[in-house]
Amino acid sequence: HSRVASVPTCDPSSDSDAKVEYANYKWDELGFGLIPTDYMYVMNCSKAENSFSEGSLVRFGNMEMNPSSGILNYGQGILEGLKAYRREDEKIMLFRPELNAMRMKIGAERMCMPPPTTQQFLDAIKQTVHANKRWVPPPGKGSMYIRPLLLGSGPRLGVGPASEYTFITYASPVGNYHEGTLNMVVEENIYRATRGGTGCIKAIINYASIYKAITDAKAKGFSDVLFLDAKTGKNLEEASTSNIFIVKGNVISTPATDGTILPGITRKSSIEVARVLGYNVEERAVPVEELSDADEVFLTGTAMVINPVDSVTYLGKRYAIMRGMSLITILFIKQNELRHLIRDLKIRISERRTEYKKGADTVGHNIYEMLTGIQFGRVEDKMGWTVEL
Ligand code: COI
Repeated sequence: HSRVASVPTCDPSSDSDAKVEYANYKWDELGFGLIPTDYMYVMNCSKAENSFSEGSLVRFGNMEMNPSSGILNYGQGILEGLKAYRREDEKIMLFRPELNAMRMKIGAERMCMPPPTTQQFLDAIKQTVHANKRWVPPPGKGSMYIRPLLLGSGPRLGVGPASEYTFITYASPVGNYHEGTLNMVVEENIYRATRGGTGCIKAIINYASIYKAITDAKAKGFSDVLFLDAKTGKNLEEASTSNIFIVKGNVISTPATDGTILPGITRKSSIEVARVLGYNVEERAVPVEELSDADEVFLTGTAMVINPVDSVTYLGKRYAIMRGMSLITILFIKQNELRHLIRDLKIRISERRTEYKKGADTVGHNIYEMLTGIQFGRVEDKMGWTVEL
């Protein structure tokens, strides 16, 4: 049987620790790693029915999967990512979850999978967060990352859409995605996406295919990789888990989402916030050379929020980005020296957190403050973006 094993349904309200407000965890030590929570939400769909039947909460844990399932054999699956935020008044909020539901529908269409309806998606998210409420970090300590998955779970030996589908949502409390400064390297050989491919959806296959680039970059002391467009190799696309923005004066530029770039919800929200704050935002092709005289470079993503980039290395040259200053120092450093320099730098700043700190006077910081302010209820949500649990 190919479906996820039917673990007995649980009623979290009858759980003995449901009354404990917070899970017993050292909240100051949160990074971005899986912390198993109490429940996950599971829903199934057979190809014959073509719609999901009512799902349920089950204890978080391993699942059974047919060895011949679509996801295990051919990577037929998509993921989503969103967060729940605990405000000072203890209310728990979601941020634009309907956009994740919509994006999952678009991805499902591309990957020949039946999607959950928006209502089913939202119910699954709410039930998952509600059942794991004690794991939503205290305000100021982090947030809860929610990971919905849509998987081809039915068996099929030949290449083609699976016979059954499983939708799962689990969650984990998280802190910062990156620690320390962000020293990026532009990848010259591996491309993340091609025209007509799956770069613009959250296909599960998009991620393992860039592990080689990330692993090699980390081995050389870099934090993450910036990908170029496969067609010309001249324009910036995105980092491995985030969209990129560059700032020059009052203009903020970001690569246009024209088929190979993931349309991030933090990207979209940052653009909207930036316009409210009075910046000019351009969505266009961004030649990699523009990094060399950018005032600021920052990355956006649900997992990483908004992170300032400290340096970018391209064709062996390191461009140190002086946040908020109008020009850039270009350091010509041989690869070997660079490695040592970055290692020393990493040791010195290992205590530093990547997300913006209070008081930084930069464009990225201004957007970060307003966006996270809305998410955590410090700033009035005039956009109507937040949804109370
Ligand atoms: C997110 O920011 O939510 C992402 O999808 C990145 C992730 C794959 C860690």
